[in-house]
Amino acid sequence: MAEPNRYRPGREHTSRTYPVIPPIYQTTTFELDDRAYEDIQGTGGLHETWYSRFNNPTVDAAAADVARLHGAGQALMTASGMAAIATTLVSLLRSGDTLVAARQVYGDTNDLFERDLPRLGINVVRVNAFDVDAWREAITTHQPDVVYGETLSNPQLRIMDIPLVVEAAKAVGASVVIDNTFATPMCTRPLELGADVVVESATKFLAGHSDVIAGAVTTDDRALHEEIQRRIITFGGAMDAHAAFLVWRGLRTFRVRLGEACRTAAALADQMASEAGVERVVYPGRADHPDADGAAGRVMPGPHGAMLTLVLDGGDERALQVIRSLEVAVEATSLGGVETLASLPFNSSHFNMTPQQRIDAGILPGMLRLSVGLEGEEVLADDLRQALKRTR
Ligand SMILES: Cc1ncc(COP(=O)(O)O)c(C=O)c1O
Repeated sequence: MAEPNRYRPGREHTSRTYPVIPPIYQTTTFELDDRAYEDIQGTGGLHETWYSRFNNPTVDAAAADVARLHGAGQALMTASGMAAIATTLVSLLRSGDTLVAARQVYGDTNDLFERDLPRLGINVVRVNAFDVDAWREAITTHQPDVVYGETLSNPQLRIMDIPLVVEAAKAVGASVVIDNTFATPMCTRPLELGADVVVESATKFLAGHSDVIAGAVTTDDRALHEEIQRRIITFGGAMDAHAAFLVWRGLRTFRVRLGEACRTAAALADQMASEAGVERVVYPGRADHPDADGAAGRVMPGPHGAMLTLVLDGGDERALQVIRSLEVAVEATSLGGVETLASLPFNSSHFNMTPQQRIDAGILPGMLRLSVGLEGEEVLADDLRQALKRTR
């Protein structure tokens, strides 16, 4: 008979080892000891490391960094941004409750609001995210349990007036959940503006390298944090250790990456504003942004993010020609990587709307969305110029 494998990780060292970089704890389970048993019996196992769907040290390393970015005491990591959003909402809402939510939200979040939450008996009321009076009226009328919106809308890049919506929500005792994926904690820290929970697709700027699907939930409310953690455990949206390592690794350069990408996006916006063939640029830092005199100062005083939307002459057909002529920026969905990504709302994020519905939602013909990466302002400006020229 072969010898059984008696290898016990960590026990092979004669002295303790302190790695500089968090090891990838690619293990589903951990040896049980008295502390683990005590925690399992006391809290259901929320705090000790004994099974990776509950806790894993590599996942904890990523969570600690996300928490720090939001100035929070703790955060939770999830398998995707949608896991973060869905798990948070089912933790906060139960049958008979009411959610007042922005109309302008990410497509799958919209499906959750229109299809899944109503099936659970949750009333969902939608409002125009950029109309503070509409928020106030809906919140006063419907007395919701939860209020939900996104810091920056896609692709209009309008800014939600978080402090004013929070004020209205607090007056009726509602919790406020903000999807901060587009703005990132470099530009906006919703907890500091009074929000209760921040949800993010860490797939995007947080991880930053277009190589991992991941989510994060951050709240300073310890009890709520544990409620959400319990739902991550029961619904199974836990992050895997390898994904956590990639997020942690990406977060190491978050400030440098984002700082550079925001500077490039701002400069590119200014260059493109005077370019022939560009009808309009939409960038939150510009004086001609529709929220420049309102929410921008309160919510996104600067830096102003790495997302930039151009409205091109010639409508969607021209935008399609331009995007196909780009040589540096990559035509792809998603955002937040080190490479610049370009996409068209009409055939990707908002394909299922009619042209008129898109116009009514402020998604204009010829809109081209850029997630600005690290190639540099001149390289990207030249790329856009050659594409505009070729398609004139
Ligand atoms: C604003 C926003 N929220 C949530 C998500 C969902 O994130 P994930 O793809 O990581 O589940 C996305 C994805 O594009 C997004 O753009």
